Amino acid sequence: DTNTYILAIESSCDDTGAAVLCNDTVLSNEVAKQEIHEIYGGVIPELASRAHQQNIVPVIDVALKKAGITKNQLSAIAFTQGPGLMGSLLVGSSFAKSLSMALNIPLIAVNHMHAHILAHFIDEESYSKPEFPFLALTISGGHTQIVKVISFFEMEILGETTDDAVGEAFDKTAKILGFPYPGGPLIDKHAALGNPKAFAFTKPKVPGLNFSFSGLKTQIMYFIQKNQKENPDFIQENLNDICASVQNTIITILLDKLKMAVEETGIHQVAIGGGVSANSGIRKTLKEAETKYGWKTFIPKFEYTTDNAAMIGIVGYYKFLEKHFSNQEVVSKARIPF
Ligand code: KG4
Ligand code: ZN
Repeated sequence: DTNTYILAIESSCDDTGAAVLCNDTVLSNEVAKQEIHEIYGGVIPELASRAHQQNIVPVIDVALKKAGITKNQLSAIAFTQGPGLMGSLLVGSSFAKSLSMALNIPLIAVNHMHAHILAHFIDEESYSKPEFPFLALTISGGHTQIVKVISFFEMEILGETTDDAVGEAFDKTAKILGFPYPGGPLIDKHAALGNPKAFAFTKPKVPGLNFSFSGLKTQIMYFIQKNQKENPDFIQENLNDICASVQNTIITILLDKLKMAVEETGIHQVAIGGGVSANSGIRKTLKEAETKYGWKTFIPKFEYTTDNAAMIGIVGYYKFLEKHFSNQEVVSKARIPF
C-alpha cells in the first residue's frame, strides 16, 4: 500500500476531534462536543482539559474504526500544536507524542489557523480548490484575520482584529439576548427570519485591514438596555430582527475589509474558514460576491468550518510529503507566530 494514512488530533479548545485521512481524502472525521460549557456561557479551560482526557481515547478509536484502519497501518500522527488553550492542547499533544513513539512513526505539529485555511485542500467532489496566491478570511471564536496565502507553508497576515474576534461578537450578542453558549448558530437561525435593516448599528472605524468588534458588543448592549427600559418584552418581540440586524452589520464589516484586501493585492480569489464561516448569511454574501465583484469565492463544507480534525489531517498530509516532522521535544503553544 503506497498510500499515506494520517491520524489527526484536534484539541485546541472545547471539541475533541480525531480524523483519518488517506492522502488528501477524509476517511473519518469525528468530534466529541463538550456540552458542559453551555451552562457557564463560555469555555471553562479546566473543564475543557478534563473532558478532552475523557474523550480522546474513544474518539480516536471510533475514527480508526470508521476509517477501517488499524493503528499499524498509520503513516504519521498529526496534532494541533496551537494556538489554543494550553490544558486542552496538552491532552492532544501528549497523546500524539506517545502514539508516534509507540508506533515508531513521524509526529507532525500543525498550526490550527493554517488548518482552518488549508481545509480547502481536502479532496471533495463538491468543490474546487483555490490556487496560490489567494486571500483567506479566517473567522472563529478566537480569531479574525485576512491572510495572504502564498503557498501551503507561506502565509502573511494582512489584517486582524485589535480586540474581540468576530465569533465573540456573535457569542456575546447571543449572551445578551439570553441564548446558551455558543450562540453564534442561534443568531444565524433567527437572523434568517428577520429584517436585516430593522435596526442600524454603527460600524467601527479601524484603519487598514484590521478589525475591531468590542465596540459593537457594547453598542448592542446599550441598545438592548435602552429599549428594554421602555418595553420589557423588547427582546422577545424583536428577536429575529435584532439577530438579522446584528448579523448584517457584522457581514458588512467583513465584506468591506475583504473588498479592500482584494483591491490592495489584486488577488481575486477569496476563501473563508473558521467556525463563523458556517454562518449562512456570510456564505450567501460571499457566494453573491462572485458575480457582484468578479471574485472566485471558496466556501468549505459545513463540517470543515468549525473545529475539526480533518483540517489538521490535510496539513499533516502536506507536511508529510515535505517531511516536515517534529520530534518529541515539540511544545504546545497557546499563541503561535503565523
Ligand atoms: O473555529 P471554531 O469552531 O473554534 C475556534 O477556533 O474558535 O469557531 C467557533 C465560533 C463560535 O464563536 C461560534 O459561535 C461560531 O464559531 N459559529 C457561528 C456559527 N457556527 C459557529 N457563528 C455564526 N453563525 C454560525 N452559523
Ligand atoms: Zn478554530
